[in-house]
Amino acid sequence: MQDRRHDLPGCFDSREIPVPVEVVNQSGRPVSLCRYRRMAGALLRIAGLGHMHLGLLFTDARGITEINRQWFGRQGPTNVISFPMEDPGILGDVVICMDRAAKEAEQGLTTLENRVMELLIHGLAHLMGEDHELGDEHARRMAEKELELRDSLIMEGLMADLCINVDHIATIRQARGGNEPDPVLAAGIVELAGADGVVVHLREDRRHIQDRDVRIIREVVKTRLTLEMAATDEMIGIASELKPDIVTLVPEKRQELTTEGGLDVKSLEDSVADAVKRLHDAGIPVSLFVDPEPDQIEASSRTGAECIEIHTGRYADAPGAAEQDMEFEQIVKMAGMASDLGLRVHAGHGLNYMNTARLAAVSEIVEFSIGHAVVARASLVGLERAVREMLALVKGTA
Ligand code: PXP
Repeated sequence: MQDRRHDLPGCFDSREIPVPVEVVNQSGRPVSLCRYRRMAGALLRIAGLGHMHLGLLFTDARGITEINRQWFGRQGPTNVISFPMEDPGILGDVVICMDRAAKEAEQGLTTLENRVMELLIHGLAHLMGEDHELGDEHARRMAEKELELRDSLIMEGLMADLCINVDHIATIRQARGGNEPDPVLAAGIVELAGADGVVVHLREDRRHIQDRDVRIIREVVKTRLTLEMAATDEMIGIASELKPDIVTLVPEKRQELTTEGGLDVKSLEDSVADAVKRLHDAGIPVSLFVDPEPDQIEASSRTGAECIEIHTGRYADAPGAAEQDMEFEQIVKMAGMASDLGLRVHAGHGLNYMNTARLAAVSEIVEFSIGHAVVARASLVGLERAVREMLALVKGTA
C-alpha cells in the first residue's frame, strides 16, 4: 500500500478533525474510546509491532467527509481510513468514523463496540501492507489477516494478568536492616520478565515494604502498581498522595505472619464503603480482598468497589485433593457471582507452581497476585549462579 500521506500536499493533522465528545452505544451507555487505545496496543504487540507507534483518532461523519475531500478528493463519509507513515517507529494513523460504525453495527446486527474493533483491525491490516482493493487474492489475504488478529486479540483477552508481589524481597532486606536486596530493583526485573504489574503491601508495622519503597516503585513502575493496605486514615492518606493504579484493601493483624483471612466486608460494610469513597475521591480504583463467600461478595458490590480479590488461601492450604476440589468449586462459583454483579475478579494468596494453572483456567478471574512462591523459587533457581559468582571472586577467577 502506498503512503498516501506522502502523496498529498501538506500533512494530516488530527487537531483539525472534530472528535465526538461522547459516544453512546445502542443501549445508550457511553463507549469508552480509551479501550481502543489499549486494544490497539495489544494488536501491535500481537502483530510483533509492539515497538511501533500507532495514532488512533475517532471522528464523526463530518470529520471523515472532510478527510476524504481533502486527502483523496472523494465525496462523503467512509468508515475507516488508514494513513501509513514511512518514519521508523511510526506505523501510521487509523481514523474511525463513529457515525458510520454505529450505522454498520445496526445493519450488521452487532454492537457498536464490536464494529469499532473490526474497523480498528481493518485499518491496522492496511497499515501492515494488506489492501483488499488490489483484487480477490489480496482481499482474501486481508480477510484472513483480520481474522487472525481478531482471534489473537480474543485469546489475549481471555488470559489473566499476573501481578507479582515483591514484599518478600523486602523481607530478606529487613532481616539485616541494610539496603539489599532492593524491592525497587526487583520491581524492575519483574516488569522486564513480562509481568503485568507489581504489588506491594505497606503494612502498619512496616515489617517488609517501607514508605520509601512504595514511593520509588510508584515512580519507576511502567505497568501498574497495586498497593495492598489496611483501610486506615494513615494508609488512605499515603495512597491518596502516591496514587497507585489500584488499592487492594486487606485486613491487618499485628501478630499474623501474613494476611490470614479476607476482609470482613459484611460486618464492616459502612466503614469499607467510606474508605472506598475516599479512595475514589482521590481517583484510585479499589479492590477488596475477600473470602469466597456469597455474603462477602454481595457486601463488596454494595460498597462501590470495582473489584474483589478472592482469597485463595483455603484452596492453597487444603489438606487433601477432595478438600481442594471443594475449595476450587467454591472459588469458581464465587468468581461467577462477583462477575455477574459487575465486579472485576482477581485472586491471590498461597498460589504456587502446583496450584495456579487450575485457577488460571477460570475465565472470570482476570488477574492473579502472587508473591511468596515466586520469591521462594527465585532464591533457589538463582542460588547456583550466585554461588558461582562468589566462587569466582574467592578463587580469583572472576
Ligand atoms: N493477595 C493479597 C491480598 C495478599 O495479602 C497476599 C500476601 O501478601 C498475596 C495476594 C500474595 O500471596 P502470596 O505471597 O502467598 O503469593
